[in-house]
Amino acid sequence: MKAITLANNGGTENLHFTEIPTPEINEDEVLIRVKAIGINPVDAFARREPAAIGRFVKPAPGEKVVIGWDVSGVVEAAGARVRVCKPGDEVFGMVNFPGHGKAYAEYVAAPAAQLALKPGNISHEEAAASTLAALTAWQALVTYGKVRQGDKVLIHGAGGGVGHYAVQIARHFGAYVIGTGSASKRDFVLRLGANQFIDYTAARFEEVVQDADLVVDSLFGDHIFRSLATVKPGGRVIALLASFTDEKLAGLVREKNVYAHTLGVVSNGRDMEQIAALLQSGELRSHISATYPFTDMAKAHAEIERGKTLGKIVVTLP
Ligand SMILES: NC(=O)c1ccc[n+]([C@@H]2O[C@H](COP(=O)([O-])OP(=O)(O)OC[C@H]3O[C@@H](n4cnc5c(N)ncnc54)[C@H](OP(=O)(O)O)[C@@H]3O)[C@@H](O)[C@H]2O)c1
Repeated sequence: MKAITLANNGGTENLHFTEIPTPEINEDEVLIRVKAIGINPVDAFARREPAAIGRFVKPAPGEKVVIGWDVSGVVEAAGARVRVCKPGDEVFGMVNFPGHGKAYAEYVAAPAAQLALKPGNISHEEAAASTLAALTAWQALVTYGKVRQGDKVLIHGAGGGVGHYAVQIARHFGAYVIGTGSASKRDFVLRLGANQFIDYTAARFEEVVQDADLVVDSLFGDHIFRSLATVKPGGRVIALLASFTDEKLAGLVREKNVYAHTLGVVSNGRDMEQIAALLQSGELRSHISATYPFTDMAKAHAEIERGKTLGKIVVTLP
């Protein structure tokens, strides 16, 4: 089958279009003929950083490394114990994260327990987009953030992959949503349903918000201190990148009696089904700002690495 393999960590020139054997499936897996692949910042991280090979991608000795996790496609074959889908069904999901997903290929072997049936009203592109990023938003807001009706929720990077799903999911639960982003994202984020938008290039968000019930922080560095300043005593802060091991930060968390959690998104078919239901009802939509053919994976990587993504970037296969 055709696949994109990684020769070495580094620039996009290390992504090679090549032929490798079609994967075998075990009795709990399905073989998916991939129609679309969602692209995330972690894809570029896995390509670029040698540390990512040990952390996410664990190739067998001599195996050609295939990266990527987000797929939508058609079930070609199903293992003997698979009950949730059968050959011919359309499925989508985040495969084996945080582990070796091997999504940049014509066929992917995926545990059936990590997948959901693709709603018929959305395309493979929209489905592939709404896997890692939508799962992150769901697990941040629902699993750990326990979002409730009437909560004031601050979502950073609200115009990006995770953020644009988070805005819609928080609104679905009846929260009052404040999104941050650069000015170019304002109209988009408000159209998604956010009640307020803060342009981070023009205002310090902690001077605008001081009584948030829940904050989803997706940035590096001191940003998390600023997010903590916006949350009310007893509130919740979910960080996608920052850890709360820093002594000063941990002290502030204790002082404010805040629930603070660093999220590492994990593959989860039950969460995928919740996302599928929202996509089916139209309460959740994927906004795709750029689509590339499989042969242009390098361009998709260059685009996600700009860090300015509007909605999602997707790659398609014939
Ligand atoms: N821990 C986990 O499990 C997990 C899971 C998913 C993602 N992540 C991480 O979370 C981050 C976001 O992921 P993503 O998929 O949403 O990335 P993305 O699609 O690249 O979106 C990031 C968004 O943030 C905006 N942004 C940049 N600087 C900002 C700032 N200072 N304040 C507010 N917004 C800012 C960007 O555009 P503008 O500047 O134009 O607004 C962009 O729209 C990435 O670093 C990713 O690696 C972690």
